[in-house]
Amino acid sequence: GRDTGLSRELLGWYDAHARALPWRVGPAARAAGEAPDPYRVWLSEIMLQQTTVAAVKAYFDRFTALWPTVGELAAAEDARVMGEWAGLGYYARARNLLKCARIVAGEHGGAFPRTIEGLRALPGIGPYTAAAIGAIAFDLPATVVDGNVERVMARLHNDPTPLPAAKPRLTAYAAALTPKARPGDYAQAVMDLGATVCTPRNPACGICPWRAPCAAQAAGTAAELPKKTPK
Ligand code: ADE
Repeated sequence: GRDTGLSRELLGWYDAHARALPWRVGPAARAAGEAPDPYRVWLSEIMLQQTTVAAVKAYFDRFTALWPTVGELAAAEDARVMGEWAGLGYYARARNLLKCARIVAGEHGGAFPRTIEGLRALPGIGPYTAAAIGAIAFDLPATVVDGNVERVMARLHNDPTPLPAAKPRLTAYAAALTPKARPGDYAQAVMDLGATVCTPRNPACGICPWRAPCAAQAAGTAAELPKKTPK
């Protein structure tokens, strides 16, 4: 079942402590009714697939200044886009980015599909990215599981199963906590918690919104989780 108490605690923390990132709608704009732009959500999630938040920021700002809409990106020259991508690495992402932009602009009238299956059908969008875009841009009740989320779930449940075997269970934990309201904020809140509080080493349990319900905190095992199967 859905544990609204836990997700409510986390969303309250997110409202106060969310990282201000260029692809997010800040609290004031959100209160004024502004919704995330699916193009910006998509572009950020593609860039974040294999690159850190810190490295992505400047590229995201540059791309959105040059190409504010998916239609403008779709009309850009390949070499220009590849040139702006230089430094981000994994260049298949940039080629799929352009393919995807041209399909959305040419076949969907510039609107990203609003279903997980529709998103999955686009170049460069796998299960993780479809869930992230669906939840963040369209409020779909999709669960996003990256390394941060795995670590937070392993600790919250004090689960000693090593990765990668633990992954299905950690995914189920994360899904069980996903609220019907604000699934995108919930997804980003767990990511932010993992990136800023529930860090791999020296987790800041003293300021964690999930300190009380955290089984690893109670057991004193937080810093040892998640376990990993040696390679
Ligand atoms: N990593 C991938 N997507 C992210 C997002 N929306 N916010 C923070 N970190 C992320």
